[in-house]
Amino acid sequence: MQKIVVTGQKPLNGIIKISGSKNAALPIMAATLLTGEKCSLRNVPNLHDVASFVELLNSFGADVERSGHTVDICCSDIRSLTAHYDLVKKMRASILVLGPTVARFRKAKVSLPGGCAIGVRPVNLHIDALKKMGATGNIERGYITMDAPEGLHGEEIYFSKITVTGTENILMAASLAKGKTTIRNAAQGPEIVALAKTLIKMGASVYGAGSDKIIVEGVKELSGFDEAIIPDRIEAGTFIAAVSASKGSILLKNADIEALECPISVYKGIGVNIVQTTQGIAVSCDAKLKSAAIYTAPYPGFPTDLQAQMMADLSLADGTSIINENIFENRFMHAAELLRMGADISINGKQAVIEGVNSLMGANVMATDLRASASLVVAGLAAKGTTVIDRAYHIDRGYEAIEEKLQAVGAEIWRER
Ligand code: EPU
Repeated sequence: MQKIVVTGQKPLNGIIKISGSKNAALPIMAATLLTGEKCSLRNVPNLHDVASFVELLNSFGADVERSGHTVDICCSDIRSLTAHYDLVKKMRASILVLGPTVARFRKAKVSLPGGCAIGVRPVNLHIDALKKMGATGNIERGYITMDAPEGLHGEEIYFSKITVTGTENILMAASLAKGKTTIRNAAQGPEIVALAKTLIKMGASVYGAGSDKIIVEGVKELSGFDEAIIPDRIEAGTFIAAVSASKGSILLKNADIEALECPISVYKGIGVNIVQTTQGIAVSCDAKLKSAAIYTAPYPGFPTDLQAQMMADLSLADGTSIINENIFENRFMHAAELLRMGADISINGKQAVIEGVNSLMGANVMATDLRASASLVVAGLAAKGTTVIDRAYHIDRGYEAIEEKLQAVGAEIWRER
């Protein structure tokens, strides 16, 4: 099994180019199922999750060509509408095929994703909304089977809980439904806006994406598109966490400051200098961090996907910090690994209390999920001595060339194969 090895306490200085966003690329790849025309995606990050999604589309019969950061997809000859367990279990975002396939092909069979390291993660809200739009469905032997022989119709959909992929599934399904769909309590992040923009390019009528109310007027057919994937705000936030931990000064080229408004205000509050430049975001830090109280929340709140990286930083802050994880019920697995490095963290339900320590010490640690692995890299960059992170494959799901990017700004980080 591959390991990432980091020797810490080297300040980071230079430029890091932010890659395309994983969580924007995957729904746009799913949207290609809505049309038989060729779709071209640029700035697609080179990640395991993208490769898994290509595998899933291939298993349906889609024609996919990848060249560098461009992915061309044509779903004109779809032969299977089953998303098998073996692919779905690797990547929960596979559920994103449900909405488009029910809408265009009037049926779908998708393996239930099941739980994962960070929580139970049900998809009941996706299924209920599609049923309201005219599909029938049941769950049998671990598969969601949905049929809509008459096609889907527009509806009033109210999500009792804000769901990112749920909003994306219904947005895609509503684009090909008969009539008007109103999605209330919709997710509002930049990935939703990017998907809506792509759907509009395909010929859909979508209004209000980026707010909590999205209106979609269904159309009969959608066409192909050419679209560049937006920069990854979570990757950029992770590098802000890295500089905050290891000190130094870096430019995050292409990073979008607006998409990171809440985490940036928190980082500024704990003593990190962050300014927008014409090329991206400039981040520098040379002082001991201050403590903070963080509450994860749906966008535009503090992202759960940066919580683990923030915890690594707050382990080294002056005084006591608090993190409340309000999105996922089990997203503190990195805390136990940070303890191995000398952090002082106690967990009580959804709250972590972090007593800042003067330094972390390199240790052997285990990555448990994607963002937990990023937090261990951040901690390793700050720690005295060498940290060995086992199960490095987690990081490849969501960070493109992370060792190379960090090496280029002065980090001592490498991979043991
Ligand atoms: N939920 C339900 N029922 C549903 C759907 C969601 O109860 O039918 C609950 C979830 O259990 C959770 C909350 O609603 O407690 C929010 O979950 P959401 O559906 O928004 O999460 P997701 O769509 O499965 C996406 C990202 C995650 C990110 C979350 C929250 C993608 C592909 N994944 O997941 O990204 O953490 O939104 O922002 O967009 C990551 O990149 O590391 C990652 C996990």
